[in-house]
Amino acid sequence: MALLCVTPETDSAQVLLRTEDDRQITEILEPLGVRFENWMVGRVPMEASDQVLIEAYRPEIDAFNSDGRNRKAETITVRLDETNQEWVKDVLASRRKYFNEHTHSEDEIWFFADGGACFYIRAEGRVHILVTTEGDLLSLPAGMRHWFDMGLRPCFRAVRLYLTSEGFDGEFTGDKIADRFPYIEDVLAGGVHAA
Ligand SMILES: [Fe+2]
Repeated sequence: MALLCVTPETDSAQVLLRTEDDRQITEILEPLGVRFENWMVGRVPMEASDQVLIEAYRPEIDAFNSDGRNRKAETITVRLDETNQEWVKDVLASRRKYFNEHTHSEDEIWFFADGGACFYIRAEGRVHILVTTEGDLLSLPAGMRHWFDMGLRPCFRAVRLYLTSEGFDGEFTGDKIADRFPYIEDVLAGGVHAA
């Protein structure tokens, strides 16, 4: 079940809204140009190959691409392996990197086949903190300011749809707004409460 908390961008402690209702989340994000929906999960076993996973969602991916853009589909699997210190270092460095406000020149599209992550979407003077879970499809429009947290112990398998590697990587704005917001663990622990 996804979780959305909305706060002013100037005060992460002042929660204007907190909801776990998927339909409400879709309705709140839609006017911002953000697409949020659920795709049925469980079509393939967890151990399915990347290609099998992508093919299982081919109808949804093709429908997504009906705008005429032929996006690539690529899986990202992150499971922290604490026995592999190099991997831990890389994962935590990636976490630090993307917990900084950035934008992309193209839409940022995620489908979570397993697990989830936290997105901080900045728009209209507010930050929309969205914790996704399995089955969630999230598409952020090109140019939207946001940042991302996969947590201290990241665990997800996702499909990313993208046009170019430059668009995939993103550009950092240099604004330190993320420093004033809680990490995913604090959001899930209820650190962001509705007033
Ligand atoms: Fe991003």
